[in-house]
Amino acid sequence: MTNWHEVDNNAKTWINEAAERIRASFPKTLDIQTKSNPNDLVTNIDKETEQFFIGKINATYPEHKILGEEGYGDKLNKHAGVVWIIDPIDGTMNFIHQQRNFAISIGIYENGVGVIGLIYDVVHNELYHAVKGKGAYLNDKKIPDLEKVPVSNAIVGISPSWVVENKRFDYKLLSNLVKDIRGTRSYGSAALEMAYVATGRIDAYISLRLAPWDIAGGAVIIKELGGLVTTLTGEELDFLTAGPVFVSKPGLHEQILTNYLQPENL
Ligand code: IPD
Ligand code: CA
Ligand code: CA
Repeated sequence: MTNWHEVDNNAKTWINEAAERIRASFPKTLDIQTKSNPNDLVTNIDKETEQFFIGKINATYPEHKILGEEGYGDKLNKHAGVVWIIDPIDGTMNFIHQQRNFAISIGIYENGVGVIGLIYDVVHNELYHAVKGKGAYLNDKKIPDLEKVPVSNAIVGISPSWVVENKRFDYKLLSNLVKDIRGTRSYGSAALEMAYVATGRIDAYISLRLAPWDIAGGAVIIKELGGLVTTLTGEELDFLTAGPVFVSKPGLHEQILTNYLQPENL
């Protein structure tokens, strides 16, 4: 039987250590490389941070699996047992250009179900965390459950890329939504945008393509607060493959799905 209390404590200790190492890197020159395209960036610190977590997890929990963005973990095609889903730096472009607005994101899942979610805003020293069934917290402060909000009062996290012509989606679905809501925000870190939905700073977050490590930690926190994390058609995510993601307060989720994300609403 997994001692989840101990896993949670260890994860928090390691995330604090990793954050300290990231802060210590600020005065140093980064080694920056590109991945799938010239704007898909990775640094030596992304890689070292992932390796740091993998070293700790393997030494303490050799039976646990790891799905990490930079590929130093396991290759998984199904969820079985305990899986740590890790984004060592979510918001790498912000990390490089701004040295802020990025986070470490960790979701710990058991047989595909999220048990622990951690998002650490390294620069602001803000740890958003939840254990399934035990509430969600920002540092030591309990986060209240999410409340309903009408579309007309909603602020939605959405990248401008998704409201202009793009190869993944009929952008008019989202531009109709953008016309009706109170405002949009784009922070450049999916994990932080989920933390902001959790704390009510924004009301929903939509992306056409996110990977499991972008959202695994945030999904545990959002669900613990009564929010929803689904595909753009309202289906459950598998936390193994990349795809569209719709995070929202309750009520608003249903309104947006019904009134905006149906092809007949065009
Ligand atoms: C990215 C950020 C960004 C989102 C991208 C992600 P990364 O993660 O979360 O906000 O729009 O889709 O890939 O590459 O900085 O870890
Ligand atoms: Ca990411
Ligand atoms: Ca990353």
